[in-house]
Amino acid sequence: MHVLAIMGSPRTGRATEQLLDQALAGVCEAAPQAQVKKIRLGESHIGPCRNCLACRDNLEAVPYAPCVQHDDMTPLLDDLARCDALIFATPVHMGHATSLAMAFLERICWTFAKPTGRVLAVRGCPVPRTAKQRTAAVIVVSGVVPPLLRRFCDEATPLVRRTLKDSLNCRTVGSLYAGAVERRGADMYAAAARRLGKAVVS
Ligand SMILES: Cc1cc2nc3c(=O)[nH]c(=O)nc-3n(C[C@H](O)[C@H](O)[C@H](O)COP(=O)(O)O)c2cc1C
Repeated sequence: MHVLAIMGSPRTGRATEQLLDQALAGVCEAAPQAQVKKIRLGESHIGPCRNCLACRDNLEAVPYAPCVQHDDMTPLLDDLARCDALIFATPVHMGHATSLAMAFLERICWTFAKPTGRVLAVRGCPVPRTAKQRTAAVIVVSGVVPPLLRRFCDEATPLVRRTLKDSLNCRTVGSLYAGAVERRGADMYAAAARRLGKAVVS
């Protein structure tokens, strides 16, 4: 089993990475044979999608359509195609996923999906290019806003879940909102992150 962990904070070793590492510890406990790869988006050069639509209009390509940009996303596309489970962690920046996380999500939007879906009267919605099923777990970390007020602060979780489903055929097994870590610290969420890691490979 291949597990890919995406770390969407520009800061290494802080709350987001600490909780992602806890989730990966859960992965190793539940599935010691799993092959795990962690990508720090803050140390990667992944440009935003340029809307050239070369990938979207390539209806034949599987498991993904190549991107015209050649940067650190290029090898990541193969990692994504290979992975069976994905853990996606991002801090909240202005209520949303970080710009690092957004660039990553933009770049998987049409590379891994083709526009053959239909929702109500809208044609052209993303459908995964292959039937391969994956599991996902989402970790969202906020500095200030506590879990009780999450709905005012967390636009990230639904966007990440939907993109991973529409493009990578991911079933999200759970999500963790680690709120107010500036005041509370991240340790109080460690056990929940570990459980999430176990769940994503179970
Ligand atoms: C540009 C920016 C915007 C932020 N917006 C929010 C916010 O809307 N709500 C919040 O609770 N915290 C916000 N924060 C605080 C971060 O969520 C917090 O610092 C978090 O711990 C970052 O994760 P890290 O420690 O893994 O880097 C923001 C931080 C930055 C830099």
